[in-house]
Amino acid sequence: MGLLVSGGAEHGDSRAEAGEVPLVLGRTSEGKVFAMRDSCPHRGIPLSYGRLDGKVVECCYHGWRFDACSGQCVEIPSLSSQDKLKVERIFAGHYPCEERDGYVWVYMSSGGRKAADNAPGTRSPEKIPAAPALTVFSDKYKITHLSCELPSHIDHGIIGLMDPAHGPFVHQSWFWRKRASIHEKAKQFEPIPNGFRMSPHSPSTNSAPYQLLKKITGEPVTTTIDFVLPNIRTEIDRSGKMWFSSRATVTPVRRDLCRIDFVAAWNLFFLPVSIFRMFGKVFLRQDQETMIRQAEGLKHNPRLMLIDDADRPAKWYFALKANLIESRRTGAPMVHPMDGPVTLRWRS
Ligand code: FES
Ligand SMILES: [Fe+2]
Repeated sequence: MGLLVSGGAEHGDSRAEAGEVPLVLGRTSEGKVFAMRDSCPHRGIPLSYGRLDGKVVECCYHGWRFDACSGQCVEIPSLSSQDKLKVERIFAGHYPCEERDGYVWVYMSSGGRKAADNAPGTRSPEKIPAAPALTVFSDKYKITHLSCELPSHIDHGIIGLMDPAHGPFVHQSWFWRKRASIHEKAKQFEPIPNGFRMSPHSPSTNSAPYQLLKKITGEPVTTTIDFVLPNIRTEIDRSGKMWFSSRATVTPVRRDLCRIDFVAAWNLFFLPVSIFRMFGKVFLRQDQETMIRQAEGLKHNPRLMLIDDADRPAKWYFALKANLIESRRTGAPMVHPMDGPVTLRWRS
């Protein structure tokens, strides 16, 4: 399956890993980002130990040089005038990528190694989707990025993200909510392409930040939460002219490791970036600690359960994923697991 993954472009770290593939990310002297497999096709040493010279990556071992944007080999220093080797036929693995909202989005094709090591002229099996842009509602806004690693398979990361029932237990904080505020909720969900939406609604009355927003604008707050394959949850809160927009992406790093990349933007004048980051980190840390504990249990391969209605979004996720894979296999249109809008009830 085609997959968009995000890697932090902000912290200057050139190494990343996604879907078990080591990557080296960089920027040419012309400012273009590139993503290569972090492995020299000669003897496999990570290219990230080499150097970048304008738009050419030079391996640290025998100095083979590769064009960073195409992966094409441009020079093998050891070749003598007698050598017939066609240097330009050698490629380092490289991936299409695009920069957006402070991330480098790398398109990793599903064909495994072969498709991953795209040579020019080989067409990707699918049309490469554009990197999704964070929705914003005004020209001026604040934006910030947070990320954390979870020691679990991406499926657990994703269903943890859309799980409505863990809030009162995992996210108890004076600034967010107390366990005792648990109450029955009914939320409408509707199908959207490749995902589902929690229809626009007034957010939980037991969360302090929403209360505050409502007090400040004097207008109702509406929240819309979407989940879209392969791995994206977005939330948009609006009240009068004020808005808050966030996106969480879960990237599979390895079989047993995934990473949440969280980006949020807002025009709420009373919310400084530093304060938001402080709370955001507490929140992510709570999820991370829970997943670390869960990983302890999952080592023993227990049987798991998904119950109605609180785990219904997780069931939709698994069905959406299976149906998408099936439609890619057969070429038939994807069957959406939801017939239409449905109301789910749970206590949280
Ligand atoms: S291993 Fe990279 S040039 Fe030999
Ligand atoms: Fe959570």
